Amino acid sequence: MELEPGDERILAGECGETRQKMLEILVALGKVFGAERLVPVKSVQVSGASYKTIGKYGLEWLEELDARAVVPAVLNPVGMPRGRWQEMGVDPAFAEKQNAVIAAYERLGIRLECTCTPYYLNSPGYKDHLAWSESSAVSYANSVIGARTNREGGPAALAAAIIGKTPCYGLHLSANRKPRMVIDVATGGGEVSIAHYGALGYYTGKIVGNRIPYFRGIRPDADRLKALGAAMAATGAVALYHVQGVTPEAKKVSADISGLETITIERGDIDRLFTEIPVDAVAIGCPHCSPEELKAVAKLLQAKKVKVPFYIFAARAVIDANRKTVESIERSGARVYADTCMVVSPVMERYKSIMVSSGKALAYIPDMCGATTRIGTLEECVAVATS
Ligand code: F3S
Repeated sequence: MELEPGDERILAGECGETRQKMLEILVALGKVFGAERLVPVKSVQVSGASYKTIGKYGLEWLEELDARAVVPAVLNPVGMPRGRWQEMGVDPAFAEKQNAVIAAYERLGIRLECTCTPYYLNSPGYKDHLAWSESSAVSYANSVIGARTNREGGPAALAAAIIGKTPCYGLHLSANRKPRMVIDVATGGGEVSIAHYGALGYYTGKIVGNRIPYFRGIRPDADRLKALGAAMAATGAVALYHVQGVTPEAKKVSADISGLETITIERGDIDRLFTEIPVDAVAIGCPHCSPEELKAVAKLLQAKKVKVPFYIFAARAVIDANRKTVESIERSGARVYADTCMVVSPVMERYKSIMVSSGKALAYIPDMCGATTRIGTLEECVAVATS
């Protein structure tokens, strides 16, 4: 792999042991995937932030490192809302460990914006190279924005933050961004909710696996694209998809769909995922809520009182910029938490059955929290939480 003189000096250990180790990670990764060079990245999003997922050994590894990020870098959600963890019922022993993880990342120069929606804070541009980790954020960056990132593991993303570069392979290259399968969606007309797009992603991800799908027959807005991509990345390994007439690269790759395997998904395939099992908690904001989603929840909760624990998750910056909306939601008894989510917080393990509005949460909660899971629209989630 071709390296610049500055990188050779880092590899020789002239810029500190941590920078040397980090570049070694990137070079090893590049060699495995046949990268010819490293490419500078505009931003990084680092996963491996919840103590629930990285545990004792992950924390020890982080505490040994000694360097600082050289490009803007944020964290994925952690296991608790900073400043409100007692209120959420987080065990103090867990909070102590989680705070140690947060402190370790802060010392490494990672901004404590703990979110899977970094694009609401500072959106990358078309064709920007990134090193993001969380699968729904990766999908959104590639598909909805047209930026370029592979799905980085936690250590590789941290290495990219400290070096400012990532190996140039996979989705960084135009040749690897072409569709591999066509999905025709027959919705049968009528409004298709965000939750239905999540369910479509849940269903489609299982079929497409790691291929890049090209959708026809749908006109999703940004929140619906977010839900679709997040779920496909959870039940499949989809890091990029195209939607005819909607996503930024769809036109460019439209000539590449001829001869590809094509399947049709009917509305009934999706509707079947909406069950009516009883639940003991409701959680929305997977991926973290957009300002529009927060406003929609606030409107639905107006003059209502929550009777079932109702959790809403969003990025701290989105919550801060929408204070009045959040206060109006919390007057109902629902709670809007930053920094964490229904999958990475250990608090959710106390529930036996959780209702969500997300295809990704539908896929992850059973294994990660040990609860049965039901998907419903935002309206249905509010109705269940308030009755
Ligand atoms: Fe985000 Fe947690 Fe869902 S990290 S995408 S809210 S599982």
